[in-house]
Amino acid sequence: MPQPHRCYNRLTMTGKVVLITGASSGIGQACARRLARRGYQVFGTSRRPQAGAEGPFEMIAMDVADETSVRQGVATVLAQAGSLDAVVNNAGFGFGGAVEDTSIDEAREIFETNFFGMLRVCAAVLPHMRERRAGFIVNVSSLGGLIALPFQGMYSATKFAMEASSEALRMEVRPFGIHVVLIEPGDTRTDFTANRRRTQSSQAGSPYADSMQRALAVVEHDEQTGTSPEEVARLLERILRSRSPRLRYSVGSASQRFAVVARKWLPGALFESVLARYYRVR
Ligand SMILES: NC(=O)c1ccc[n+]([C@@H]2O[C@H](COP(=O)([O-])OP(=O)(O)OC[C@H]3O[C@@H](n4cnc5c(N)ncnc54)[C@H](OP(=O)(O)O)[C@@H]3O)[C@@H](O)[C@H]2O)c1
Repeated sequence: MPQPHRCYNRLTMTGKVVLITGASSGIGQACARRLARRGYQVFGTSRRPQAGAEGPFEMIAMDVADETSVRQGVATVLAQAGSLDAVVNNAGFGFGGAVEDTSIDEAREIFETNFFGMLRVCAAVLPHMRERRAGFIVNVSSLGGLIALPFQGMYSATKFAMEASSEALRMEVRPFGIHVVLIEPGDTRTDFTANRRRTQSSQAGSPYADSMQRALAVVEHDEQTGTSPEEVARLLERILRSRSPRLRYSVGSASQRFAVVARKWLPGALFESVLARYYRVR
């Protein structure tokens, strides 16, 4: 289908169309607000679109765990805006619990949103981007997608999977003029902490209950005193302006970003012991 000719003001980026999943709160909402203020035409998604309706951007209904909902959401954006320049796969939630305590159904549930949700959105937008031979896919991963944390194993597994598939996708779609980028935030002050789900077993006498409580108390404290989601929004704006963006951008406290570097240089056993002590599981 021929696409309408669009003109951009290079300074304000007015007219560029961006779809951000999970824009009803936190990082997604901060990104949507910032880009909308900068002149982008922003479509944010939520499973309950009235939840974030007060923003300076349009909210549409989308459940990334549901294929039909994703296709309908993308079709709505293309029908209203005529094209799509960038997608930010941000929708996701946290999950606390020991790996042994996690049922297969619970593992599937978090993968459905955090990983398969991203794949569904990519599959829905890529034909359009390939046809236009342009586009940005920005996947919101986590520093937890580079370092697995105790009692957040399944969450980290979804982000490790996102990291791997983004790395491959980037090389596959570059010949079509499409950029794939990963944003890896450290702990960020959002509703993520309150929305974290936990294994059923953790409520029913798990042998891991005590150490899980201690580890998650550290995690929750770090999130609630973490960086502002506006930091991620600033980074996203910079990425979308770049002509040759890198694969990975981390954002967050210096100490958390340093941990990623330290992991490469420290002996494995030492790094693991520092991490276990920090999260009070040893
Ligand atoms: N906060 C942190 O410390 C942190 C650190 C690293 C990475 N991240 C990542 O950043 C992203 C955003 O998290 P946040 O901190 O902004 O958390 P948040 O405030 O809880 O926001 C999560 C967003 O995801 C949406 N969402 C959840 N499940 C969805 C589904 N099945 N379909 C569509 N939307 C869904 C929610 O929308 P509705 O409920 O309205 O549908 C909400 O807008 C996540 O991918 C998270 O893993 C967060």
